Amino acid sequence: MTTIVTGGAGFIGSALVRKLAAAGEAVVTLDSLTYAGHLQSLGEALEAPNHHFERVDIRDAEAVRAVFQKYRPSAVMHLAAESHVDRSIDSPMDFVSTNVTGTVNLLQAAQELWSALPAGEKEAFRFLQVSTDEVYGSLGPTGVFTEETPYQPNSPYSASKASSDHFARAWQRTFGLPVMISHCSNNYGPYQLPEKLIPVTILAGLEGRQIPIYGTGSNIRDWLHVEDHVEALELIVRKGTPGNTYNIGADAETTNLDMAKAICACLDEFLEDSPHRPHEGLITFVQDRPGHDLRYAIDSSRMRDELGWRPRHSLQEGLRQTVAWYLENRWWWEAIREGGFKDSERQGLAAR
Ligand code: NAD
Ligand code: TYD
Repeated sequence: MTTIVTGGAGFIGSALVRKLAAAGEAVVTLDSLTYAGHLQSLGEALEAPNHHFERVDIRDAEAVRAVFQKYRPSAVMHLAAESHVDRSIDSPMDFVSTNVTGTVNLLQAAQELWSALPAGEKEAFRFLQVSTDEVYGSLGPTGVFTEETPYQPNSPYSASKASSDHFARAWQRTFGLPVMISHCSNNYGPYQLPEKLIPVTILAGLEGRQIPIYGTGSNIRDWLHVEDHVEALELIVRKGTPGNTYNIGADAETTNLDMAKAICACLDEFLEDSPHRPHEGLITFVQDRPGHDLRYAIDSSRMRDELGWRPRHSLQEGLRQTVAWYLENRWWWEAIREGGFKDSERQGLAAR
């Protein structure tokens, strides 16, 4: 029983690989190590005998196929992606090639392997396409995304994810591959690259730099702790029904401004002697993101009712834990900066 985790060196993928490897499961991380992939995020899994790392670009169909034939997985959990909305505004083709072409390469490799399996193994095989709630577009002040909400992606990122979801669905409907698709809300937690809102805010606050809040800060995101997300993904692979989609969210809607303020309050508490207290004074409203979705909110009743999933982390406790993690694990983000990653560079300001 081997699981291939694509994107296993990224934020969510590494949380999944650490958990699977710690549980003694055979797991292969398939990752090309882009600017967003870091082996140090794998922790003890990196040395574990039940974990293997394959540096492979999912855009390379032949290399993907070779890894599938080498390990003959019983499950594929597909997380590799270009994942940052702002970057998708500057470089949309990277999103098309990795998120769309790369996903089709994986589906083809999985299909080739699956179709030749003996009946029992064929029955048990699973391909999980890990997607985002952003494929549903933007909500107004009320309502939630359900599994029946029509796709209406607004950014090049969400359009590329939506496209890859359609291919995943097509491989299930046309070829019978046991595909499931998950849509989760915004994740937070340890090992998230400081280009996303929460780590950007923590590091800017810690270092006394401006905390950039796009527009008025009134956009709403529904926050999910990465460990709760990973538990949901494992449940889907174990108990989900092929052909189904599953929405994952923890009912934790917050405006970006309130989120920044909550992080600043944690920093005030943890860094009593900081010259930057009160950290809230660093919050700065900056030019809005083009096409900025107003609000996301997830109805996760199917996950809860059919698969018995429950998030364990409240946003308040999870956020405190996350801020503490960044303060205690400078080695992780300092190494990424030393590798050339520039975390205070604004991206995605294309003229309309
Ligand atoms: P991430 O950017 O932190 O990690 C992406 C990983 O994919 C990196 O390790 C990177 O090296 C790898 N990768 C990128 N291009 C590749 C390629 N061509 N070949 C092989 N590997 C490649 O992303 P994340 O935040 O961990 O997100 C993981 C998945 O979850 C993505 O599919 C994303 O769309 C989805 N998702 C993320 C969030 C979130 O809040 N972070 C929310 C919903 C859905
Ligand atoms: P982000 O973490 O990029 O996730 P997504 O765009 O996938 O939701 O952004 C979360 C929200 O925070 C989004 O509304 C944009 C906003 N944001 C800021 O206000 N400032 C920032 O520096 C960043 C990175 C995001």
